[in-house]
This record gives sequence, structure tokens and C-alpha cells, in this order.
Amino acid sequence: MRKSRTICSVNPFNYQGPIVPARLIDRGTELDELQTAAANRVAVRLAAPRRFGKSSLLEAHVAAMRDVGHRAVRVDFSKVSTVGDVAVRVARAYRELPAEPGRSVSRWAARLGVTATAAGVGFTVTPQTPRPAADEARAALLSLLDAPRALHESDGELTVVCFDEFQDLLVADDALDGLFRSVIQHHGEAAAYVFAGSQPSLMRALFSEYERPFYGQARPLELSTLPLDEAGNDIEALLGAEGLEADGAVDELLAFTGGHPQRTILLAHHLYELLDRGEDPEHPAAAAVNFALRDTADALQALWDSFDRNERVVLMALSDGQAPTGSIVAGEHRIPRSSLQEALDRLVADERHVQRDASGRPYLLDPLLAEWLRRR
Ligand SMILES: Nc1ncnc2c1ncn2[C@@H]1O[C@H](COP(=O)(O)OP(=O)(O)OP(=O)(O)O)[C@@H](O)[C@H]1O
Ligand SMILES: [Mg+2]
Repeated sequence: MRKSRTICSVNPFNYQGPIVPARLIDRGTELDELQTAAANRVAVRLAAPRRFGKSSLLEAHVAAMRDVGHRAVRVDFSKVSTVGDVAVRVARAYRELPAEPGRSVSRWAARLGVTATAAGVGFTVTPQTPRPAADEARAALLSLLDAPRALHESDGELTVVCFDEFQDLLVADDALDGLFRSVIQHHGEAAAYVFAGSQPSLMRALFSEYERPFYGQARPLELSTLPLDEAGNDIEALLGAEGLEADGAVDELLAFTGGHPQRTILLAHHLYELLDRGEDPEHPAAAAVNFALRDTADALQALWDSFDRNERVVLMALSDGQAPTGSIVAGEHRIPRSSLQEALDRLVADERHVQRDASGRPYLLDPLLAEWLRRR
């Protein structure tokens, strides 16, 4: 429903990538924990499923740390595939720090082709700046990563460094965590580190496997779904600020998403759009779900294609609320229950799509995948 509108504004619900700190719903406790850990120079490992708001939380932490006078950066390692990529990402992020006495960040940044542009720090590969060879990239990393120590020696101040998608380092080189550790273990008072990653099992492997360099090195922090009350209030406030009223639709959306962070905002985005267009469907929440399914159908299909038959049977059963390894499902598909159990165990161990609730019952993490399956 639409009140009188004075200005035409952009949809306030950004559902792609990190959001601005002012738009963060909840996460006050997590920010407090990060702040305390930084004050005590305790490293934190932030593990959560994809799209649960890790990068958004890190951005808010960086902003909060800067507000109280610390230096802070987020280094995004998503999809790095070579050691050169890793060095470039670090150089790009550390360019935002003040120049340290040795100016090694700016010198390496120039050699790696990372340039400061009017719009921020860019990256150009010109014929003069080919992608660095692995040895040079390693030398760059050893020097770049030490910038917080050099800065601390000159002014005694703290640098907060958030490594996002940290596990992707291992794609570039599966011993790169050792190189990182060899430098940052000497940072003591100079820096406080947060390691975030979206594949929980891989993150755990990095930090919990005895033989890995970061074994036992970081305090775990997990991100759960958004609290429904607070999410509902914030979404209604944003709609209200635009002169839009959703009546009960926001509560219905939240009941559908269960507080899944990105799915909640994606649906709020579509709800905003249809209210803003002046559409007045009988069931706005259901209409928003339809729009979201239309947008995500290709991605869901591609995901679906990646599962084997037994996994698909388990996923369909979960979406229908059936016992995935029970005799009904096994009989219907003529698959031994033990094979379904193996498929379920695989999906649960993988953690990306199926998790167990507090009472141990498996459920689908993505409410849109569940709905897409129910509509098959
Ligand atoms: N606390 C939150 N408040 C409001 N929106 C959120 C919150 N957390 C996540 N979101 C929504 O989820 C989207 C994805 O967030 P973000 O990119 O921070 O997650 P991520 O865990 O880093 O995802 P990825 O696994 O893709 O890297 C955001 O664009 C936003 O719409
Ligand atoms: Mg992210």
C-alpha cells in the first residue's frame, strides 16, 4: 500500500554484497565481541554459511574501529587463484593505510600494478606490470603483511586487519597460511586479526587441524540467522521512511525466510519494488517470493544439477518436511535407506546447504531452494 510519496528514491534493500554499516540489522553482540578481541589483540575466526553477512559485519567492524581512531582494513580474498592475486589483494587493501616509514606498501603496490584512482584504489595490468611471478608475489606478501608492525613501531597505534574469504588462499597455494602466519605471529600489540570464511568446514580445517599453521590460533565467532523481531522492525522502518506500508507482509516474509539474512533482504527488496510500483496484490509477501524465485531460478537450477540422485532425493524430502532417510522416502524411490543416510551425511558434513537444528534435525539452509523444490 502506498502513502503519498514526495521523492523518488532508490530501493533501500541491497541484497548483493556487503551493505553499509548503517543498514546492518542486529549483530551488536558480534561487533562488541570483535571490538573486545581487537582491544586484547585476540585473533577471531568468523565462520558462517554463504550470504549470512560476514563481509557486512567486517565492514561494520572496520568502520567502528576507524571511528575510535584505529587503522582498519578488510582484505577480500574471494576467488584468488594465484599467489600474485593474493599479493594484489593485500596491496590494494593496505594502500588505504597511511604510508609506513619504509613505504614498502606503496612500492610493492606500484610493482604489482595497484594504482590509486579518483574512485578509490584500482588495479591495472598494463604491459609494464604483468602479473607477478610466484616468487616475487611471495616476497611482496612477506613485506606487505608486515606493514602493521612498521606502522606500530612508528606511532604505537593498532591496525585491525580483517581477512575475508581467508580459506580461498589455499586455492592459490595450499601452504600460504604458513607464510601468513610466519609474518603476523610477530605482530603482538601492532595488529588484531579477524579471519572470515564462507565454507565452514574449510575454515575449520584451517584453524582446527593440528598440522596447519593457524591451529588453535583464533577464537571462533559464528553468525546465526537474523532475529525476526529486530529484522521486522528495521524493514518496516525502511519501508515507512519511503512512505510504504506493508501491513503484515513483512512478518510473512520473515516467517518464510526464518531470518536467513540475504534471503530476507532479497524478499524485502522485491516487496519494496512492488509496493513502490503501486501494485496492490492480495498477498504481497507471496508476490515478493515469486519475484525472488524468478530471479534466482537459474542459480538454483545450476545448484540442483550439481547434486547426485541420492542427494536430490534427500533435499526434496527435506523441502517436503519428510524424514529423508525414512522407509517411506526409501520405498518410494527404491533406494536403500543406508544410501540415503550416506547422502544426508555428505550434505550435512559439507554444511553449505543442509544443517542440523538444535535438536539434531536436518533442514535446508536456503528457504528459496526449499520453496523452489516444493514447486517442482
Ligand atoms: N546483518 C544484516 N543486516 C541486513 N542485511 C544483511 C545482514 N547480513 C546480511 N545481510 C544481507 O545479506 C547480503 C549478503 O551479505 P554479505 O555479502 O555481507 O554476506 P557474506 O556472508 O559475506 O556473503 P558471501 O558468502 O557471498 O561472501 C547483503 O547484501 C544484505 O542484503
Ligand atoms: Mg562476503
